[in-house]
Amino acid sequence: MMGDSRPMIGRNAVVLSVLVLNGPNLGRLGTREPEVYGSVTHADLVSFLEQQGHDLGIEIEVRQSDSETDLVHWIHEAIDAQRPVVLNPAAFTHYSYALRDACAMVQLPLIEVHLSNPAARESFRHESVISAVADGTIAGFGVDSYALALRAILHLTR
Ligand code: DQA
Repeated sequence: MMGDSRPMIGRNAVVLSVLVLNGPNLGRLGTREPEVYGSVTHADLVSFLEQQGHDLGIEIEVRQSDSETDLVHWIHEAIDAQRPVVLNPAAFTHYSYALRDACAMVQLPLIEVHLSNPAARESFRHESVISAVADGTIAGFGVDSYALALRAILHLTR
């Protein structure tokens, strides 16, 4: 496949390449409110997802930023590269129309994930401006929310 920079296995098969995006304060996992988010660090989450990707036969790239601009630009990049997205928008979940509008342009699967279950927490967390433009939302299972999201992407793309 000339001009296609996606990784190849065998002669024709293209490895699914999933972009996992984590929003503000998720780089502080491990020390951030461990009673809510657990003791797993962001580096642990990356290793876990790389292992999941290996087991599922898909490529995983994990990025984290505290900046709304970075997240919007990474969604644009995923659109241009036609990569499915797993997105934990963190606090942007509840108020970022810019991120929501970027997600609305995504054609391939986009799964919203949360470590905690926002519906069971403070009322400001009950609204997600992202959910309506995601293919689905998985929340409340810690790092397994991400593992389930990868399986949802496989289900939607195969
Ligand atoms: C979160 C839930 C959000 O309400 C919060 O602002 C976060 C993390 C989660 O993964 O549970 O930063 O997205």
